[in-house]
Amino acid sequence: MSKKRVLSGIQTTGNLHLGNYLGAIRNWVDIQQDYDNFFFFADLHAITVPHDAKTLAENTLKMAAVYLASGIDLNCSTIFVQSHVSAHSELAWLLNCVTPLNWLERMIQFKEKAVKQGENVGVGLLDYPVLMAADILLYDADRVPVGEDQKQHLELTRDIAARVNDQFGKQKPVLKVPEPMIREEGARIMSLTDGSKKMSKSDPSELSRIELLDSAEAIKRKIKKCKTDPIKGLTFDDPERPECNNLLTLYQILGNKTKVEVAAECQDMGWGQFKPLLTATTIEALQPIQHKYHELMNNRDYLDSVLREGASKASAVANQTLTRVKDALGFLPPL
Ligand code: AMP
Ligand code: TRP
Repeated sequence: MSKKRVLSGIQTTGNLHLGNYLGAIRNWVDIQQDYDNFFFFADLHAITVPHDAKTLAENTLKMAAVYLASGIDLNCSTIFVQSHVSAHSELAWLLNCVTPLNWLERMIQFKEKAVKQGENVGVGLLDYPVLMAADILLYDADRVPVGEDQKQHLELTRDIAARVNDQFGKQKPVLKVPEPMIREEGARIMSLTDGSKKMSKSDPSELSRIELLDSAEAIKRKIKKCKTDPIKGLTFDDPERPECNNLLTLYQILGNKTKVEVAAECQDMGWGQFKPLLTATTIEALQPIQHKYHELMNNRDYLDSVLREGASKASAVANQTLTRVKDALGFLPPL
């Protein structure tokens, strides 16, 4: 039996942080051997909010280097740039025409991001989840590993696929309905400055997040300044202590320990004792990734060749699906 297909992506905005790594990339690396994987850099999604044309390309390349440095294995995973496979934009258009507007208006991420854009909110931001549906459906993905925050977008993808099948696939389903894959641990890494908000690229304060490429000094400084509480003895899952839960979770995952081990180790600790431990664990976990990253960034020809091959493999799969959808919708085939 052939392997099930996994697909996921990350927007090429800004630098990746621990939330992206622990909530997304690390999970992909852990499961990749059991699946046929497509991982991509969502640069078309990156322009749904105002972006800087001078840094978009560089951000995309950096992200490719981060994926590879984090352990994405090209023997079982294809990595590619979203904008290099034109089928994404084209399927998004077709899906736009079957998606009711009110499905998009109730997306939480849209509402949150739209507030920040005020009068200038673009049509692309509203349409973001339809492009995401196209990303997924083009590859007949069985599973889509994402963080908790993307769950609603996956539900929408399933609804869109079901609607296309219902309207145009009575004889034979046109699109495969994908399943989300959300890991409990690390699904939601919180901000270092406010344990009730998720760690995010768009938080104005750099102290709120640890970036994958942060230097040891930066990591030390951020953990030193992070928000804690005056209580001695550290525990998981106390709703009154979101920061404590978050920092213990980071320590657990980055140190490859079990929750039970960490709970026992830290139950009598104060912050003064815990913070240096978390700092050392974080630095140690990130160092090999950073080392590999710099090596890859110095080998541009190799990166280019990986992305060229990725785009070609991805296009072959995506174009087949696109043709299938166009046929089902009744278009005159190219003559
Ligand atoms: P984004 O940075 O929004 O493009 O997210 C890229 C991937 O990282 C998605 O799978 C998100 O669900 C995941 N992610 C982003 N922020 C966090 C976070 N704070 N905790 C866990 N996962 C996250
Ligand atoms: N919207 C996703 C995020 O912010 C990124 C993304 C775009 C994605 N297309 C996708 C994730 C397709 C999974 C599958 O994290």
